[in-house]
Amino acid sequence: MSNGKYEVDPSACIRCGSCATGAPAIFSLRAGPAKVVRQPETESESRACEEAVRLCPSGAVRAAEPWQTSGALGAEKAGPGLYPVLAEVAESARWKLSELPWSRYDPGCVSSPLRALVKEMAFHEHATYSATQRFMQAFADDTDFTQWVSVWFYEETRHPTALMRWLALSGETLEADFVARGRVSTPFMKSRTGTLVTNIISEMVGADAYLGLSVASSEPLLTTMTRQIAADEARHAASFYRFARRRIVTAENPERERLDSLKVLHFWLNEQQSVSHPVSQTMARLAPIRLEAGLPAEFQAPRERICRAIAMLTDLPIASPADVFPLLAEQTARVHAEA
Ligand SMILES: [Fe+2]
Ligand SMILES: [Fe+2]
Repeated sequence: MSNGKYEVDPSACIRCGSCATGAPAIFSLRAGPAKVVRQPETESESRACEEAVRLCPSGAVRAAEPWQTSGALGAEKAGPGLYPVLAEVAESARWKLSELPWSRYDPGCVSSPLRALVKEMAFHEHATYSATQRFMQAFADDTDFTQWVSVWFYEETRHPTALMRWLALSGETLEADFVARGRVSTPFMKSRTGTLVTNIISEMVGADAYLGLSVASSEPLLTTMTRQIAADEARHAASFYRFARRRIVTAENPERERLDSLKVLHFWLNEQQSVSHPVSQTMARLAPIRLEAGLPAEFQAPRERICRAIAMLTDLPIASPADVFPLLAEQTARVHAEA
């Protein structure tokens, strides 16, 4: 029994490949927007389509009916390595630095808050260097994941390259140690699943922030560039999701892994309330640019969508952020009772 029917709105698709990352037999990404090749036929294919709905950054993947599941954990237990599939989708989705519309740069559309914001975003992009070092150590025995990290690191390294080239066009000078200082990142937590979930969330927030900037900016080169970067971040979220899901379904104690996932979600939701959080500070800088573009001043992280994605990841009934804390208490009690 499978759910149906799924479709892609070509006018909303940003060609991130998140859908094909999870369901390569259902969604294809060649030229132009993603396309539905066929409808899902099995429970695990339906699940992958529903994951695509929740991970699509622009709401382009849609379902005709609400998702229903038998709740069976582990339908996708078996299967080959993820790296070859993810690397192939990434190649179909990937854009070229040389193909960005550099000649369309319009200095008349660039304000000083916009330059400051782009500089801040370029700075934080460099943190993937130290994060890669940590991934290689913490996941050293996971050949599949560490192979994929090479794709992630390559694509992430292009983001500040493109943004810094835009900054140079805008006349912004960068300090000599700009790249080196940006390479600092926070240490990983003990739980590997927790680390993967942290990355799902930050990639989803990043995709949303870049898409917001793409819509808000009237500078043509930046509009295109940030849309392309948003597509990469969204595909990274979908890829981290696949590795996290595999860890949960193959774990000796899946309840423990679900608890770690919930903890990360709970911590992030609460941190978002804090105005002193670096992400909130960065997003606050968007306000003048968003207002200029006629958008609401405040950047809202896609909290609801992230909750729905983590619900799918953990098979827990998280319909909104308000559900997370009670579920965390329940799940903690469940894990302790088992122990
Ligand atoms: Fe990035
Ligand atoms: Fe990313």
